[in-house]
Amino acid sequence: MASEHDSVLHSWCVQSQWQAPTVVGGSGAHLQLADGRRILDMSSLAECSNLGHQHPAIVRAIREQAEHLCFVTSAWGAQPRAELAEAILEKAGFDGGRVFFTLAGADANENAVKFARQASGKPHGAIVTRDRSYHGASYACMALSGDARTRAQADPASFGVLHVPPPYAYHGAFGSHDAMSCGERAVEAVATAIDHEGADKVAAVMMEPNAGTNGIVAPDNYWPGLREATRARHVALIADEVMSGFGRCGEWFAWQRYGDAGKPDLMTLAKGLTGAHLPLGAVVLSKDIAARLEHQMLYTGLTYCGHPLSCAAGLAALRAYEQENLIERSRTLGKTLFAELQAMQSRHSVIGDVRGGHGLFAVIELVADRATREPLSPWPRTPDALNALVDAAMADGVSFACRGNLILLAPPLVIGEQDLADALILLDRLLTLFFPSAS
Ligand SMILES: Cc1ncc(COP(=O)(O)O)c(C=O)c1O
Repeated sequence: MASEHDSVLHSWCVQSQWQAPTVVGGSGAHLQLADGRRILDMSSLAECSNLGHQHPAIVRAIREQAEHLCFVTSAWGAQPRAELAEAILEKAGFDGGRVFFTLAGADANENAVKFARQASGKPHGAIVTRDRSYHGASYACMALSGDARTRAQADPASFGVLHVPPPYAYHGAFGSHDAMSCGERAVEAVATAIDHEGADKVAAVMMEPNAGTNGIVAPDNYWPGLREATRARHVALIADEVMSGFGRCGEWFAWQRYGDAGKPDLMTLAKGLTGAHLPLGAVVLSKDIAARLEHQMLYTGLTYCGHPLSCAAGLAALRAYEQENLIERSRTLGKTLFAELQAMQSRHSVIGDVRGGHGLFAVIELVADRATREPLSPWPRTPDALNALVDAAMADGVSFACRGNLILLAPPLVIGEQDLADALILLDRLLTLFFPSAS
């Protein structure tokens, strides 16, 4: 069997160290490897396979669409694109809004910035984002992101991006260990950044509403506070729901936990939109933003934006979330996951903090000292023992994702309850094995 080892340039790794498995198939929360092993996927690959692998209804929808029409340019119409746009607007409660389809999350975020600037009449308006955020790996998205790994590659100022500190309550951001006051001060930091720049020169604030690969889960008052602060200043609020959407945080879209009080002006989607069966992203525009663009020329779009096959996959995905009650399931199992991790924290002093749990997304933060909250290794380095734990889990048939000192738990929403329980028992055992003195 052919191997990528010597021929493919791999993303996010040192080429000479690449030793990832080759996947030949999958079903539900499991992946089938070329060497015959079956692996339980505890991260939905890149937090994207929310519906599990090879979901039969989505595979069928792609096949059926392929028989009718594989491609039509995004400048013309296609049935699955129209149906998917309507379904998204309905789930989001964005009545009278519009959907712009993209290929993935990064170009959704870039286009959201374009639309916010154009709709506000501020073509060079600043965009406020936060440190410890991830919005994609294109140049503009590296500038939007507050990501230590790519900081040197793009200059935020040249993209009109202003960074503010994140609501990282666990590490006493803004001098506060209390989540709510941290959330309040983090909102103040955004408001101050806008006021300092001048609200007439700021086009948007872009933030991840809940889950993110950076591992920060914002305090409950952060998002509603951002909404109030941006509305008061007539600055658009963009929710980057690329990772947090489609049940990951227990709602169709994470901002919905706050009801209408949390509704953004624009939101960006990808990953769970097709459950990663095909590449697709989207920018969802409120009625007001769409109305402002209605009579303006839109100079944007890529050849494959809103590809009919991807839209057919997206439509089947939305139906699957609904018919299988996966949003509610994520909320229920997310509570179980969170409670189990908290119990684990009481057994392992290496676990400094457990965050998330609104849906099937949780973060464990490992520390060298629980009292001082000293990180196990400087961000964004992953401690050797954590890499070893992840390797050992893989050898035992479970794939966990880690990032720096964080273990990210984001299994497919279809994961079986027993599979989830077994994976957590394994994690518990491996924490004892790899962090013995801290247990
Ligand atoms: C919050 C968030 N935004 C944007 C992106 C970029 O999406 P893509 O990799 O599809 O371009 C990601 C990917 O991990 C993400 O987590």
